[in-house]
Amino acid sequence: MDVEILSRLQFAGTIMFHYLFPPLTIGLGLIMVIIEGIWLKTRDETWNAAARFWTRIFALNFALGVSTGIVMEFEFGTNWAAYSRFVGDVFGSALAAEGIFAFFLESGFLAVLVFGWDRVGPKMHFFSALMVFLGSCFSAVWIVVANSWQQTPAGYHIVEQVVHGEIMPRAEITDFWAMIFNPSSVDRLTHTLVGAMILGGLFVCSVSAWYLLKGRHEQFARRCFTIGVVVAAVFSLLALVTGHDQAHQVSETQPAKLAAYEGHFETGPADLYLFGWPDAETQEVKYGLAIPGMLSFLVHWDFDEPVTGLNDIPADERPRVWLPFQMYHLMIGLGMGFIGLTLFTLPLLKGGRVFRMRWLLWVYVFAVLGAFAANQAGWIAAETGRQPWIVYPSVQGGVPMQGLRTSDGLSESVGAGQVAWSIAMFGAIYLLLFAVWIFVLNSKIQHGPDPHPHQPPEESEDGAGYLASAAGRVGHTDSMTDAKTGDNRETTPAAARLAGEGGAP
Ligand code: HEM
Repeated sequence: MDVEILSRLQFAGTIMFHYLFPPLTIGLGLIMVIIEGIWLKTRDETWNAAARFWTRIFALNFALGVSTGIVMEFEFGTNWAAYSRFVGDVFGSALAAEGIFAFFLESGFLAVLVFGWDRVGPKMHFFSALMVFLGSCFSAVWIVVANSWQQTPAGYHIVEQVVHGEIMPRAEITDFWAMIFNPSSVDRLTHTLVGAMILGGLFVCSVSAWYLLKGRHEQFARRCFTIGVVVAAVFSLLALVTGHDQAHQVSETQPAKLAAYEGHFETGPADLYLFGWPDAETQEVKYGLAIPGMLSFLVHWDFDEPVTGLNDIPADERPRVWLPFQMYHLMIGLGMGFIGLTLFTLPLLKGGRVFRMRWLLWVYVFAVLGAFAANQAGWIAAETGRQPWIVYPSVQGGVPMQGLRTSDGLSESVGAGQVAWSIAMFGAIYLLLFAVWIFVLNSKIQHGPDPHPHQPPEESEDGAGYLASAAGRVGHTDSMTDAKTGDNRETTPAAARLAGEGGAP
């Protein structure tokens, strides 16, 4: 295999592994906020236990998301140096903004969220949950903006620079806001966030359904399951709406990609395939089932209006068809499945009928795998469908701007053997990391929520509670780590309580 294929495989593998975690943390973040909000209002012990339980799961996924995300930023430099030079000016600001605004917000408040249960009052804790959730969404904003810019670049011009005696192009921002609000960023962001919420909802359903099937933590599981189903139902419907908007946007900005998604080889009225097997050699979709004219209708509101086919795209600018087609249809098939499943379940929540339907609970135990798969499939479709471009060509103010082909984005000095070796290393380390993730996740789920969680200290309306808490911290040499280890048990009532009752949960 050549260095391009190997580098693409390596990036695909590392980003797919990474992309298990961000949508899960974003989706769980929303559930945490909802549950903490209910707890703040009711002060009910079960909601308190639920908030603590999901926070622990969230923190685990957050840690894995951060550690696996950093790898890709290095990969840009090692394997994709020419690409990094091309997009550096654009990505530099977006990725720096992600670090400064989103990551700091998220990780700063995460400390309060995880270690602050017995240190801050419920309102402050709820506020921290909200900030962590917003921080995770904000992180998605910058990453999705950077990705969208590659697909639909805007607000830049190309300058030439000399690198190792060769003239190389580099994109330079001319209009920051046009770069941020490039033609696909808002559509892509909403759809990506919606996909994350579906995953969060179905993850909560999966764990709760498993507890119900095993007859454990019944009250906790019924409440969490209900929230999970409602979240998954609302966002599954939104996935259809935002997905349609995005398909529309793709038809305008990346017609070659849409043609690949639907196996549309000849320009003309286009059918919408439910499934099939596209064959680029024979230029047809085999074994398929299609709704005649439906793609034309969805794009132009007219069953007979032509849609650009791959025949109108220069041969060396066409994406491969099979993978984008299958991944796109897998995502949509799963999305329709989530709509059917959750809408079927909603009425069954009344009177708790769903909790007696064991077969349905088993479906929910495994539905979360479908949500992981739909998120992965969406990204694979979007990224393979834009090939051979790593940065699409565009027209800015009437001036055509050159794009960058994936094959031109590679590092000049890295060989196939080095990439193959690093794939093997990544494979081994990620397998280990995956095993650790499953092991820790499983042990947290087996442990379950604490039956009688501690009530946090109350803060007063005027905020004196925060001040007292802060004063307590200034006046003592203890730290949050001390609270966990019990070294400061004489300094705070909470730590004393923890120590008296056998340590932190
Ligand atoms: C139900 C109908 C759905 C439709 C019509 C739809 C439509 C689309 C379209 C057109 C794209 C490609 C955008 C591009 O190429 O730039 C896309 C990407 C994506 N979809 Fe969906 N989708 C649906 C369901 C889902 C579901 C259920 C999930 C996840 C649970 C999901 C997650 C994603 C993700 C993560 C991406 C990649 C982000 C991007 O580049 O846009 N989608 N979807």
